[in-house]
Amino acid sequence: METHEIERLIRISKEHPLLPETYIPWQDDPLPGDVFLPERLNSLHGLPVYDTLTPGQKLDLGRHETVQVMYSYGWGEQLFCLFVNRYILDIPPHHAEHRFLIREVIEEYRHQEMFTQAIMRLNGDPVKPTRWHRFAGTFTAKYLPPDFMFMTGLSVELVTDKYGYYLRKEPGVYNVLKKVNELHSIEEGRHIHFTKGLLERYTAKAGFFKKTLYSLLVLGNIYFLRSLYIRKEIYQRIGIPDPEKLYRIAYRNYKAKFAENCLGGVVEFVNDFGGFNLLTRPLWKSILGVRF
Ligand SMILES: [Fe+2]
Ligand SMILES: [Fe+2]
Repeated sequence: METHEIERLIRISKEHPLLPETYIPWQDDPLPGDVFLPERLNSLHGLPVYDTLTPGQKLDLGRHETVQVMYSYGWGEQLFCLFVNRYILDIPPHHAEHRFLIREVIEEYRHQEMFTQAIMRLNGDPVKPTRWHRFAGTFTAKYLPPDFMFMTGLSVELVTDKYGYYLRKEPGVYNVLKKVNELHSIEEGRHIHFTKGLLERYTAKAGFFKKTLYSLLVLGNIYFLRSLYIRKEIYQRIGIPDPEKLYRIAYRNYKAKFAENCLGGVVEFVNDFGGFNLLTRPLWKSILGVRF
């Protein structure tokens, strides 16, 4: 990415900062009929069990699952900031890349605070990441090389972008959530643009082996993210019998919905750098349910 282009992104970030304190109408209560998550994004819609739920249970399912998504974003952004702080230590502070990444972490910290506040506004009680999630997340943020970490960050941002799209655009979503996602999408648009430009440096000279590795890394990240969203504890909370059994059915249901609604940007990105081949394509199909 050209320096003048990075300078443009820095300028927009400075001249048009979006502060969650003033941008989000925190005082707004949900209107009658408002939802916290569009049906296309919840894990049970499309299954016969969904039609047996009361309106209150449906609303609560959306509330818990949206809380889970926001909690996962905040946690993922914390890990990403951990990596960026390590990465910029080696770049002189006057370099455009260093200064952009400072702007990016400033925005990411604001996002983390915003997600926490939104969770509190929904009286949310997120299901915490498992020990395995924590190990994998911390290990990657501390030890993965920059190209792998930027690839990781971008995979999450591209999925977030799709989720945010539905929360902003579908009618009847609680206004606070709509505005949270609006703010996030505007600022993440710049991060995505910058990271795609930065990654070209690596993907342009990558051979078959490296492209395969990148593709598997993106796949692993999406798999990881998806497993943070859907948790059986939520079915327990809303009083559905046999949450263990339901989880297995819901997992398959959500896998198909997630592939259909949320993976467009990621698939396009992997396709652009040539990450689909004889080895990776079957894995994308079986693990993430992507149809080619
Ligand atoms: Fe963010
Ligand atoms: Fe970001």
